[in-house]
Amino acid sequence: MILEIVQYGHPVLREKCREVQEVDERVRQLVADMLETMYDAEGVGLAAPQVGVALRLAVVDVSHDPECVSYLRVNGQDAELKDIMPLVFINPELEFGSRKEKSPEGCLSIDGIRAEVSRPADIKARLPQIDGGVVEIETDGLLARAIQHETDHLNGVLFVDRISPAAKVRIKGRLRRLNEE
Ligand code: NI
Repeated sequence: MILEIVQYGHPVLREKCREVQEVDERVRQLVADMLETMYDAEGVGLAAPQVGVALRLAVVDVSHDPECVSYLRVNGQDAELKDIMPLVFINPELEFGSRKEKSPEGCLSIDGIRAEVSRPADIKARLPQIDGGVVEIETDGLLARAIQHETDHLNGVLFVDRISPAAKVRIKGRLRRLNEE
């Protein structure tokens, strides 16, 4: 089922989400619905608070562009993007490399706004899976960025919180209008 995507200004987007304690049928159905909703909206990631559920759960799929990472290791082994997509994770834990990279981002909850965001280029992510396993991912590029963007959502942080003061000034009016809708 395609779910409604909550828009900028909704308080759930600012919540610190709860850990997923148990993966029951409700959570499984939520994952299926979030994947369907993300593909329908042509996004590369979606976090549970974006569909109104304050749980530490997100989905990512960047497989449209196999070149979007320069390396990918899964549980210490070299891997292909398509082997791990779509990526569904709960209760993520991230470590960051020191190199930073600037790239444009958008968000399905902030309609029509894109801006450059500087983030760590390299991450090591410990991503518990809904089947009880854990996947450890080391990567960069769009996948590293998408995992960071979605993990931010689970902490009530939006990409517009991370843009430069000058870029913030440029989008201020549009954000205010979204907030008032
Ligand atoms: Ni987003």
